[in-house]
Amino acid sequence: MTVSDKRLVPRLGVLISGRGSNLQALIDAASRGELQATVAHVISNKPDAAGLVRAREMGIETSVVLARDYPGREAFDRALVDVLRAKRIDLVCLAGFMRLLGAEFCAAFPNRVLNIHPSLLPAFPGMDAQRQALEHGVRVTGATVHFVTPELDGGPIVQQAAVEVRDEDTAASLSARILEVEHVIYPAAVQRILHESWRVDGRRVSFAAPRTS
Ligand code: GRF
Repeated sequence: MTVSDKRLVPRLGVLISGRGSNLQALIDAASRGELQATVAHVISNKPDAAGLVRAREMGIETSVVLARDYPGREAFDRALVDVLRAKRIDLVCLAGFMRLLGAEFCAAFPNRVLNIHPSLLPAFPGMDAQRQALEHGVRVTGATVHFVTPELDGGPIVQQAAVEVRDEDTAASLSARILEVEHVIYPAAVQRILHESWRVDGRRVSFAAPRTS
């Protein structure tokens, strides 16, 4: 993404529905200076999301946008877009946001919405990706950061990391090890998208080779 004024720190809008550990990873990476961005606004579609408490404790502005307050998905999506625009958000990060966003939302932020998913996509999209991996018997799974399109977990892939499945794994133990990897690759992928040159050709995201001089 090109940020029009390089002197400005890009503003992230993070959408959550629950715990918010990936939100925390983004906040922490930004405060360590590894992610040159500021988490400017957090939106939850659940009023009791634990991630809202984390954000407020860090002094980050939050909004709650409830689907039941809108007549349908388009109206709900528009409400989200309105908040994100009002807060001058440069890049939207979904972090455990449990609703599918429609074409209108994606068109409002073209190639400016990222998601993190707990599998090596395109394997195991949707809910309970870690359980799906265990039930399928794969020996390796992982985490994926991808651009968001209206297709569930189907957008172009930005970054992935593998996690070995152990014989003794349960959905909980596997989820915990994948989560550790998520917390590393999500801030790293956001940093690359914000501060490197990249392009999307069809499904492929490619980064320009870093300049040597
Ligand atoms: C993560 O496993 C993420 O990959 C998935 O939802 C979970 C959110 O966890 N999309 P948290 O709310 O970030 O802790």
